[in-house]
Amino acid sequence: MTADPFSLEGKRILVTGASSGIGRQVAISCAQMGAGVVISGRDEARLQETFGQLQGEKHLAVGADLTVAADRLHLAEAAGQVDGIAHCAGISTIVPFRMVSEKHMDELLDINFRAPVLLTQRMIAKKQVLSGGSIVFISSSAVHIGTPVTSMYAASKAALIPAARSLASEVGAKQQIRVNCITPGYTRTPMLDRLNEGGTSIEANYELAPLGIGEPVDVANAVLFFLSDASRWVTRTTFQVDGGLTSRISF
Ligand SMILES: NC(=O)c1ccc[n+]([C@@H]2O[C@H](COP(=O)([O-])OP(=O)(O)OC[C@H]3O[C@@H](n4cnc5c(N)ncnc54)[C@H](OP(=O)(O)O)[C@@H]3O)[C@@H](O)[C@H]2O)c1
Repeated sequence: MTADPFSLEGKRILVTGASSGIGRQVAISCAQMGAGVVISGRDEARLQETFGQLQGEKHLAVGADLTVAADRLHLAEAAGQVDGIAHCAGISTIVPFRMVSEKHMDELLDINFRAPVLLTQRMIAKKQVLSGGSIVFISSSAVHIGTPVTSMYAASKAALIPAARSLASEVGAKQQIRVNCITPGYTRTPMLDRLNEGGTSIEANYELAPLGIGEPVDVANAVLFFLSDASRWVTRTTFQVDGGLTSRISF
């Protein structure tokens, strides 16, 4: 361990969803803290943009659609052994409960739940997550709230939490791997921009959090904590990084 418990010097970290938003910032921040980073996303041009912003060397960019089994396998093999995984890839599509279709459910579950779970399962089975390693799942504050039209998005993100807690129990004592979830609140990213397109606006909701809207770096800083040795005694937790959105009570 280095003198700075938050350092990622000498660690190799896999970051999914690194072509945009939170994942991009996580990758950039990991590299700034000394890690070698394997970044993944679907859009090659935006993935390369992220790659160009990574400080230092030893990084790798791997294009992959994580809903496709062959792509997940390719990414896992290209990543090799890692000290940490930050699962940032995800989508947010919203419809009223009465209009939820099986297709809508499948699309959300495929990338928000099945993809990170199956990628993790494969990498653990092949001993690709090293002892002392850390796995971070990006869930969402939506799981705590019950905002209209987010039922299936929230459900796909909520499913990660018990899965992560159970996994933490399975890989903790024997392999010394930590597993935690983060539930971000409204964070300024292209995902949020898309939710504000087409005549709808959720901007008024940002004020519901005492600290307002967050930036990708606010979430990335929490991810860094979980990936670093500073959190070496922290596992099976869900950390709210939401500007106070979900803990606010009015009288
Ligand atoms: N922004 C918020 O307010 C907020 C709040 C709570 C939770 N979150 C969660 O935080 C995570 C990051 O969100 P963001 O706001 O940064 O969104 P974003 O800017 O839209 O980025 C999403 C990332 O996920 C990747 N992705 C989507 N589908 C994929 C697939 N099938 N295969 C591989 N990669 C895929 C995208 O890759 P391409 O662009 O290359 O396709 C992109 O890199 C998501 O899981 C989201 O649910 C966000």
